[in-house]
Amino acid sequence: MAVLEKELITNLKKINSKNATEVTRLELSDEELASIDKEYCTYGDKIHAEPVPKVFRDCNGSFMYDSENVPFLDLEMWFAACNLGYKNKRVRDAVVDQIDTLPQISSHFQYDYKVLLSEKIAKANIKRFGRKGRVHFNVGGSQVIEDALKLVRNYTHKSRMFSFYGGFHGRTLGASCLTAGYRYRKPFGHFSEEAHFVPYPYCYRCPYGKKCDSCNYYCVQQLRREFEDNCAGLYDHSSKDCSLGAFFVEPVQGSGGYIVPPKGYFKELKKVLDDFGVLFVDDEIQMGFYRTGKLWAIEHYDVKPDVITFSKSLTNGMNPLGGMWAKEELISPEVWPSGRTHSTFCNNPIGMRAGYEVMSIFEEGDFEKEVANKGKYFLDGLKELEKRHKRIGNVDGLGLALRIECVTEDGYTPDPELLHDIISEGLKGDLMYNGKKCGLILNKGSHYNNTITLVPAVTISYAEIDMALSLLDQLFTRLS
Ligand SMILES: Cc1ncc(COP(=O)(O)O)c(C=O)c1O
Repeated sequence: MAVLEKELITNLKKINSKNATEVTRLELSDEELASIDKEYCTYGDKIHAEPVPKVFRDCNGSFMYDSENVPFLDLEMWFAACNLGYKNKRVRDAVVDQIDTLPQISSHFQYDYKVLLSEKIAKANIKRFGRKGRVHFNVGGSQVIEDALKLVRNYTHKSRMFSFYGGFHGRTLGASCLTAGYRYRKPFGHFSEEAHFVPYPYCYRCPYGKKCDSCNYYCVQQLRREFEDNCAGLYDHSSKDCSLGAFFVEPVQGSGGYIVPPKGYFKELKKVLDDFGVLFVDDEIQMGFYRTGKLWAIEHYDVKPDVITFSKSLTNGMNPLGGMWAKEELISPEVWPSGRTHSTFCNNPIGMRAGYEVMSIFEEGDFEKEVANKGKYFLDGLKELEKRHKRIGNVDGLGLALRIECVTEDGYTPDPELLHDIISEGLKGDLMYNGKKCGLILNKGSHYNNTITLVPAVTISYAEIDMALSLLDQLFTRLS
């Protein structure tokens, strides 16, 4: 054997004989973690939104466990990234198998699960929308939005888009142009391609002061009027050309507070977009993968999107993979050739394998029925709480995307302080259920910073929903 070869084998043996570093899971106390964090970690992400970040050590199903092993019922599920619950065995086993077979492969080589996952998603959309299309992957929701922006710009040569008040599409520079809140852009200078923002159908607090049952989609009519006016800036009637490329839509508004539009809303909106040549990009990053009881939330509204973006629960939180599906004319190899967009990790095999398993689980189960039934059961329980607690202004939901508005004594004025206190109190871990100490993890969203967004695992049990209702009841009783 050549000397070099011998040396290589000895080196490999040495490397493989070492065990992975034992991460000092329980050896470092919460306080020790906090002191290292204070010195070396950025404060620019959201861990430091609260003065003392909560430490968790384990997770399983619908629960997280803190350093004292107190169970916290999780109604946030990593911002809807783990719809199938923590440590889902099938997804875990698939990932482990992938680690043992083909864990690494450069994103410009071909392998099985990348094409098989594309096929699954493309076929799911043919079944749902009767449209042939293709799938393009990237890493994380914002990057997928960037890719969708590029796709629309590539096809329409337009760089500005429509988006909604309260819309959230990510924090990269391009996605920030579509994300409505000024606070997301404020520190970063001028955004020349900021979207044209349009009011969301937030009927409980209608921006036009209308009533949902009698408004006749007044907000959509307003948009149509803007198009019809030759001097309003949207549309040139002589050349029949819109100055904007696409409307980026959340079918249920996520970070805006889990707002569910009325049944016919998107059909009305789509008529306007079709009349004036604007593409419909359906952002399912938060609402996809059966959060609302359908693979895509837009299915509730009977419209056909031109592009769908997805991420989060695609891998059940096991990998930051995301992707976009687009109808053929936008994404065929002729109009979207090699290299239009790409990143080192975009086709990574662990993510593809996890995604393939997640899609298989959804195909095999009856999630449509289950999520609808559980969602109704949960919402009925929330309605009971609403009757008993004056400080609950509104509850609503679609499937297991549910909301509670915290309000003042008058029953309507938004109360962000109450929301904040309820979330902090849940994280203390001193609630009681069936004689045992526990906590509750809640998420927030909304236009007025007063809404609890409930994002349980779609696999949550009825017993866990009962527990959730009891813990919410305890929190409103304590703090109202
Ligand atoms: C609808 C929607 N789009 C885009 C994003 C951005 O995804 P990411 O945080 O993975 O960049 C989010 C994140 O919450 C989202 O809810």
